[in-house]
Amino acid sequence: MVIETKRLILRPFLEGDAADVYEYLKAPAVNCFVSMKLHSLDEARKEMKKRLGETEYYFAITLRDGGKVIGEINAYPETGEPHGDENAVRDTFSPCWMMNKNFQGKGYAFEAAHAFFDYLFSQKGARRIYAYTEDYNLSSQHLCEKLGMRREGTFLEFISFVSNPDGTPKYENTVQYAILKKEWELQRSN
Ligand SMILES: CC(C)(COP(=O)(O)OP(=O)(O)OC[C@H]1O[C@@H](n2cnc3c(N)ncnc32)[C@H](O)[C@@H]1OP(=O)(O)O)[C@@H](O)C(=O)NCCC(=O)NCCS
Repeated sequence: MVIETKRLILRPFLEGDAADVYEYLKAPAVNCFVSMKLHSLDEARKEMKKRLGETEYYFAITLRDGGKVIGEINAYPETGEPHGDENAVRDTFSPCWMMNKNFQGKGYAFEAAHAFFDYLFSQKGARRIYAYTEDYNLSSQHLCEKLGMRREGTFLEFISFVSNPDGTPKYENTVQYAILKKEWELQRSN
């Protein structure tokens, strides 16, 4: 699957993307992506091989002009109900987005996320899209708000991605945003 916007092409990852991806994943900007850190170009090449089969839900965000990979976005179908059985409908998605810092502040993240939301709602059966973001991640919250997502609440000390200096888990406060398909369609029609 390929999603095109005015300035971007969202497409599946290729083996040749390793150097571009290493550029932003050698030092993930936020704790929630710490486990994705790539320690070498060689590790990036192996990671690209793992991503090759991802054709529906995991996209490289590339510049239409020149083809550079400047970030990534993904979301997978989930059941809205955490205790749903295997027959529960998977109509809920939670995106992860990340841009190379040299390409932030240019509206590319919004352009990519907007097209990705359109794709999930119109082609992948999404009923609800929600996003988790750390309470200090104002750029991600700003992006959620520009996309028309509602701030649904804050979970205090919700999750830990890194440890404190004394080895205990460092818990993060997590803000949840969400938008329903009917809300997305309403704002698209206004
Ligand atoms: C979260 C993240 C993806 C947001 O990226 P971003 O580049 O700040 O977001 P946007 O695409 O909305 O662009 C922001 C600004 O670009 C500006 N901009 C510049 N040129 C523009 C253009 N041609 N068109 C549109 N906007 C433009 C806009 O003014 C916008 O600011 P505003 O909304 O205050 O007006 C990015 O900060 C990131 O990758 N962070 C690290 C990873 C992360 O935190 N992920 C989320 C974990 S929960």
